[in-house]
Amino acid sequence: MSKVRAAVFASGTGSNFEAIMSDGDLPCEISLLVCDKPKAAVIEKAKAFGVETFVFDAKQYKQKADYEAEIVEALQKNNVEWIFLAGYMRLAGATILEAYEGKMINIHPSLLPAFPGIDAIGQAFNAGGAETGVTVHYIDEGMDTGPIIEQETVPILSNDTKETLQKRIQIVEHRLYPKVIRQILRDV
Ligand code: GRF
Repeated sequence: MSKVRAAVFASGTGSNFEAIMSDGDLPCEISLLVCDKPKAAVIEKAKAFGVETFVFDAKQYKQKADYEAEIVEALQKNNVEWIFLAGYMRLAGATILEAYEGKMINIHPSLLPAFPGIDAIGQAFNAGGAETGVTVHYIDEGMDTGPIIEQETVPILSNDTKETLQKRIQIVEHRLYPKVIRQILRDV
């Protein structure tokens, strides 16, 4: 039986993309990378893994619905059933949500609902609390607001800098995201 097909959406470095791709036990095939930053490092990573890419520049389109229609077309052409957001710096609009809501998940570097949005690690670090963490959640129309699937706490140490905290959060992300993907796909 052929594996379920999935896409990763990313805008940046792609360390989570790499972690997903490197999981030897993933119950799906990552058949497409969707990226909105034509110079993002994740694009070369996708090519190295032999993953097809759909790269777009939002400035070339009049409105979100126009580029999202092209994204959905690329997803459907690839028979993609699941979408994993990994540092995709845009909100999903109605066009993608109509096609994939309930089958889109995201990873965010805080214990949501605390510190949604950009620079979540900096926000938590500056707040001066004792812990932060990582959340994997379903996507809805809000900013990091969809139903939470799993969270893991990361302590903020007294000698942490934002950079050391970020490194420890990334280690958790790279383990947690493939694990949650395995669980979800085995449960459906
Ligand atoms: C990760 O921290 C992820 O939680 C957030 O964006 C970052 C992406 O990092 N949504 P990378 O591109 O996977 O290295």
